[in-house]
Amino acid sequence: DSADIGVTGMAVMGSNLARNLAHHGYKVAIHNRSASKTEAVIDEHGSEGEFFPSESTEDFVKSLKKPRVAIIMVKAGKPTDAVIEELAQYMEPGDIIVDGGNSLFTDTRRREAAMKDRNLNFVGMGVSGGEEGALNGPSLMPGGSKDAWERLSPMLRDIAAKAEEDGEPCTTHVGADGAGHFVKMVHNGIEYADMQVISEAYDMMARALGLDAHAIGDVFETWNEGDLQSFLIEITATVLHHDDVRTGRPFVDIIKDEAAQKGTGAWTVQTALDLGVPVTGIAEATFARSVSGDVDQRAAAQKVLEARTADEKIDDPQQFIDDLQKALYASKLVAYAQGFEEISKGAETYDWDINLGDMAKIWRAGCIIRAKFLDRITEAYDRDPGLKLLLADPYFAEAINDCVPAWRRVVAFAAANGFPVPVFASSLSYYDAIRSERLPAALVQAQRDYFGAHTYKRVDDEGSYHVEWTKDRSETRTDGGQG
Ligand code: 6PG
Repeated sequence: DSADIGVTGMAVMGSNLARNLAHHGYKVAIHNRSASKTEAVIDEHGSEGEFFPSESTEDFVKSLKKPRVAIIMVKAGKPTDAVIEELAQYMEPGDIIVDGGNSLFTDTRRREAAMKDRNLNFVGMGVSGGEEGALNGPSLMPGGSKDAWERLSPMLRDIAAKAEEDGEPCTTHVGADGAGHFVKMVHNGIEYADMQVISEAYDMMARALGLDAHAIGDVFETWNEGDLQSFLIEITATVLHHDDVRTGRPFVDIIKDEAAQKGTGAWTVQTALDLGVPVTGIAEATFARSVSGDVDQRAAAQKVLEARTADEKIDDPQQFIDDLQKALYASKLVAYAQGFEEISKGAETYDWDINLGDMAKIWRAGCIIRAKFLDRITEAYDRDPGLKLLLADPYFAEAINDCVPAWRRVVAFAAANGFPVPVFASSLSYYDAIRSERLPAALVQAQRDYFGAHTYKRVDDEGSYHVEWTKDRSETRTDGGQG
């Protein structure tokens, strides 16, 4: 008898994924570099299903039904490369290696090509939902070949989270080679922005209104009943209502305000820069973590940089809270629109056939950014699969237009009173930039032409031109045309 599927890497994500598979009736081979972890899984969870533990990679691979499927759940980077190499040694043509870690999509592309040369299938799969998701239903974003998806899909559909609305499993074939990890990367970038806008709203309630954590938790609970309804808003309310077990103080107040990051947000921004996609919300959210983490720099600044505020007052606290809700929602829409634009540009660049509406669909349950409004994103791409920008869809255009006055009040108030709102503010600037008929980019072009003869285009004629700035300032056409 042999196992239907294997999981190697028995840290919590790997063991939970293996248990999830076992709960669905699959025979699961399990393996870990050090056998003690595998034994611990058997000791603690062996009765939950049929597990086939192995001590060596060779035995692990041999315990699998052909064509074999082995999921790797180890640290991204070098550890993943090492495990792939070990598995590949014992695998046979047609077998499938799945990497369920947070790997960089370019690594996945490289690995997929290398495995293809050895007639092995390699699937980079984004897995979202944390420990709880891995156990009870994650959102799964597999890339790789269509053939691999055919073999994997029954299992992945079984173990994935099911959307509340229609019971559909939160997984689909994202696209070839690195597409799955690319989409997971952008998911994480959006996650960063989502967390930051929630935190900016929290900060304003705490600092501008002086509300305590419990009162702010109540506000988030109310917001969770409307358009903002999402996992992140829900857990924010729970966290704010939690009191520290040691001191009895609100838990959030005893945590150091230094946000960490493991890199996926930065990758989203780096990749966006390469692709030329403005993901300003995600970038500001990522930088906000860096700002918070540089303790020495903050201490130096605190000594000498003054607030010099305009000291605006809030007349109506409830109105201010309602404004914050809209500022949060609008900024969140910007971050999602930018994230989807990055996926769209990535698909174009790497030749992936990604259905954007389906990406919103498979994020409806299981993943960290699961939210009510994802259905609206799917509908927008159903209405117009070639949509240039999510915000240009009629539903979203109206939704964001409706937030604008409140959004401006919040950003203006924050600026006047010296509160940092990097994502609220930069998202509003982005909004005003894309809707502006004319941008100062014209002046930038003129400057470029002055110092580097980089040429410019005219509003009233075809062609490219250059001015002899330091000579007679005559204009010449540079693209060979008549002018
Ligand atoms: C998920 C999360 C998960 C993890 C991130 C967080 O979708 O389940 O995104 O992948 O929580 O790695 O990353 P940071 O440590 O950088 O915040």
